[in-house]
Amino acid sequence: MMNWEELRQTCNRCTQCGLCDSRHNVVFGVGNENARIMFVGEGPGEQEDLQGQPFVGRAGQLLDDMLRIIDLDRKHNCYIANIVKCRPPQNRDPLEVEQDACIGYLENQIALVQPKILVCLGRIAAMRLIRDDYRITREHGQWTQKNGIWMTAIYHPSALLRDVSKRPETFDDLLSIREKMRQLEL
Ligand code: URA
Repeated sequence: MMNWEELRQTCNRCTQCGLCDSRHNVVFGVGNENARIMFVGEGPGEQEDLQGQPFVGRAGQLLDDMLRIIDLDRKHNCYIANIVKCRPPQNRDPLEVEQDACIGYLENQIALVQPKILVCLGRIAAMRLIRDDYRITREHGQWTQKNGIWMTAIYHPSALLRDVSKRPETFDDLLSIREKMRQLEL
C-alpha cells in the first residue's frame, strides 16, 4: 500500500492501460482524505479530463447539488473518486481491462480514507464495488456491508440529467444516506 504522495505520483505517471494515450490529465480524486463517506463514479468525462478534477461538468454540478441536500460538500466532508482515472474516448464505458488496470489505485485510496460509507454513482461503480451482477434499477438505495464498509448505489448524475423521472427515487436514496450517517453518528 502506498501513501497519498506515492499513490498520486504513481497515478500521474501510469501507463497500465490504453487510456493513458488520449488523456490530458489523470483525474485522481478530490475531497477530505479523512472523510467518513466516499462517492465513486465511473470515469472522467471531457471537462474532468481537461481540468484534472472529478465531476466538474454538468453532471458534477448536479452531484454538488445532491451532496448539498445531505449537508455534504466535496471539499470538506466527503471524498470523490472514480473507477478509472483517465477518460474513456467518447465517454464510453470503461473496458474490463481498463478497470482491472486501475482498480488497485482506488482500493488504495479507500484503504487510506477508511470511509464508513461508500456510495457508488451508477451501475459501473456498483458492479465493480458491490457485486458484478448488481442491477441499479432494482437495487439502488439498498444497503449492504462489505469489508466493514456500508455500501449503497444511486443513479449516476448523468442518468438523472437524461431522465428526470429518476430524480424522486434518488431524493429518497439521498435521505437514506443521510439517515445512515445519522445512525452511524458520522
Ligand atoms: N462522470 C463520472 O463518472 N465521473 C466523473 O468524474 C465525471 C463524470
